[in-house]
Amino acid sequence: MYYLAPSILSADFSTLGNDIATVVAAGAEMIHLDVMDGRFVPNISFGAPVIASVRKVVNAVFDVHLMIEEPIRYLEDFRKAGADIITVHYESCSDVKATLKKIESFGLKVGLAISPDTSAEVIRPYLPMLDMVLVMSVYPGFGGQSFIEHCMPKIREVRKMADEQGMDELWIEVDGGIGAANIQSVIQAGANVCVAGSSVFRGNAAENVRKLKSLMTEGSPK
Ligand code: DX5
Ligand code: ZN
Repeated sequence: MYYLAPSILSADFSTLGNDIATVVAAGAEMIHLDVMDGRFVPNISFGAPVIASVRKVVNAVFDVHLMIEEPIRYLEDFRKAGADIITVHYESCSDVKATLKKIESFGLKVGLAISPDTSAEVIRPYLPMLDMVLVMSVYPGFGGQSFIEHCMPKIREVRKMADEQGMDELWIEVDGGIGAANIQSVIQAGANVCVAGSSVFRGNAAENVRKLKSLMTEGSPK
């Protein structure tokens, strides 16, 4: 299955509930929530209380992307806020295994993210614990950046690693700079979850979701 995960970072926060309802009604299966702490990344976004508020008015998979130092300290808060998937960065955890185990213990889907300069190889030892790998295709911190082409081979590498370990069910999410021009290449490289922030919320969000979703379906490897 292919999923589109609009990132609310580019939404209008004064009408957040409505913006999310619009993209879900248009067919987005997941909502991508970018949490930033101003330390792991040079930007601050929002935290668990905002997620808990929108959770009350939206029925979709909540995909929480934690760009924070030592996320293990806050996992409980995001579980309570209503996360379905929690993804942490390899680069931000002093004990990756303990962090992933804690997410797993909540019964949530477990994700591990790698930034553009991190090799796909670091994922290998953790693969059996993961439901999802997040390959960042921009430097984490800001929406609206351009897709970094050298991240494309990493998508293929992660898919190959997963195939070798018989993990057909592993989700591969790609995040940053995705739009109508490149979403099909991302899918063909092996991703099945595409995050899209500015390409969804700039302009008519419902139309953008429909367009991106149909491109994903057309571009899916047969
Ligand atoms: C970047 C975030 C992304 C980003 C996506 O740190 O993780 O989710 O906001 O936004 P676009 O699609 O505009 O690159
Ligand atoms: Zn993200």
